[in-house]
Amino acid sequence: MSIQQEKIQELVERRGTAKLGGGQKRIDAQHEKGKLTARERLAKLLDPGSFEEFDMFVQHRCTNFGMEETHPDGDGVVTGQGTVDGRPVFVFAQDFTVNGGSLSKTMSEKICKVMDMAVRVGAPVIGLNDSGGARIQEGIDALAGYGEIFERNILASGVVPQISGIFGPCAGGAVYSPALTDFTLMVQNTSYMFLTGPGVVKSVTGEDVDQESLGGAAVHASKSGVAHFSVPSEEEGIETLKKLLSFLPQNNLETAPERPTADPVSRMDDALNDIVPDSPNKSYDMYGVIRSIVDDGEFFEVHKDFAKNIIVGFAHMGGKSVGIVANQPGVLAGVLDINASRKGARFVRFCDAFNIPLVTLVDVPGFLPGTQQEYGAIITNGAKLLFAYGEATVPKVTVTLRKSYGGAHIVMSCKQLRGDVNYAWPTSEIAVMGADGAVGVLYGKELKAETDPAKQSEIAEARKQEYNELFCNPYQAAQKGYIEDVIEPRNTRFRVIRALAFLEGKRQEIPAKKHDNLPL
Ligand code: HXC
Repeated sequence: MSIQQEKIQELVERRGTAKLGGGQKRIDAQHEKGKLTARERLAKLLDPGSFEEFDMFVQHRCTNFGMEETHPDGDGVVTGQGTVDGRPVFVFAQDFTVNGGSLSKTMSEKICKVMDMAVRVGAPVIGLNDSGGARIQEGIDALAGYGEIFERNILASGVVPQISGIFGPCAGGAVYSPALTDFTLMVQNTSYMFLTGPGVVKSVTGEDVDQESLGGAAVHASKSGVAHFSVPSEEEGIETLKKLLSFLPQNNLETAPERPTADPVSRMDDALNDIVPDSPNKSYDMYGVIRSIVDDGEFFEVHKDFAKNIIVGFAHMGGKSVGIVANQPGVLAGVLDINASRKGARFVRFCDAFNIPLVTLVDVPGFLPGTQQEYGAIITNGAKLLFAYGEATVPKVTVTLRKSYGGAHIVMSCKQLRGDVNYAWPTSEIAVMGADGAVGVLYGKELKAETDPAKQSEIAEARKQEYNELFCNPYQAAQKGYIEDVIEPRNTRFRVIRALAFLEGKRQEIPAKKHDNLPL
């Protein structure tokens, strides 16, 4: 063998060793837990043969606690660049088989390198987390490593999409990197996120709680809203990440890829003409409306299990990616509360940052009243959604289906928040409040003065009818130009797509400033 061949042989062997990470025994242990390895995850995520790995031979520099005796190549994270459906992405996948995927200074340098490159070339960053947190043996160096990553998460925010998959432990301050990214996906039963684990919780608060109920996928997808997606398996997780990417542009200067469809733009759906029940107190399923108007009935929902009274997600309309925000009358009558406002605001801001037009479907009775909401700062949280819509400069098309009352009417992308095209169905009621509330306020004294209950209800009904005729319809708003048109429900798909088409070249500025002061 020539010297050159020997050197090539050495390279092949070194690569083979590096690919084994913490070794076969630890790989087997990972599989026994029902988890894939970092490399297996990347192989499923990236197009075959597209992965260009960086820093495979990087080693830690720690000399404490016997760490100087082992120097696994790659140091607990696999990083690089590849493509998903032909589009470039930058990736890092923490390798639990090497020191439990714990974060060393060198590991953070590898992660920061791909994040910096992603921002330079304008491509999304996908991080697959599976880590025991800061590498304890490295002390403050490990913490500094986290700081470096967080700062990059912050600077990259709104420049390139950042997506986190949680495929194992993610504890302590480590949770803040995913929290700073745009979307977080968790795998049920094998991943968890918390600031302090069950042991610390028990010692500080006395509370008995296991990992799953403290920070499992179900908890974060439904209660805290930390996770946007909760999936039953790693495979499904990877597929979900790929699907999500298909709706997103590469960066804030581009638009999302188009997806050709055979679904006619002018397709009408007669069922929509009957979907709103005659009784204002009856609900209907907003999902039916969304699926009816988007291309091929395909809706990719975000935050599906969190604040179900508002629906957010991506779809294509006329081949273009759009962000849908819709009140869900089937849950809490579609009322806006703290969580719904937070959920909606985050989604609207993401779409605006990445040039994805917003389609808003309104059926909202108002904000949820009560001490719980007021003490929890519904004022500040509701203002987030208001702020998000008001600052958004992407095309905004809004359709009011039924109720649009009071402050909630304004918040849900009304004309005065620079809504571009606002339509209403004939069934819509755009008013300060519903008839029951209004009659109580306007005619309370008159009604109280009437002692005969039958007569009292007769007067109330007459007043309500009068109010309904006057206000609970779309025509007051249409007469004043607060909506562009009253449209036939079955024609909604066509009208929205046509509006989006003529809004495509929209240019709108916000005043120059360092940054805004979103009510947090
Ligand atoms: C160094 C670590 C480690 C860590 C795990 N390992 N976490 N090494 N630093 N943080 C090592 C283990 O010693 C072990 O090495 C290997 O990884 C696998 O770990 P196991 O405990 O055997 O695995 P498992 O039973 O699956 O338990 C996983 C775990 C547990 C729940 C993550 O390892 C754990 O509790 N680790 C500590 C978590 C933690 O407190 N991290 C610090 C959080 S604070 P060997 O050689 O035996 O296989 C933090 C601050 C960040 O992260 C601040 C940012 C601002």
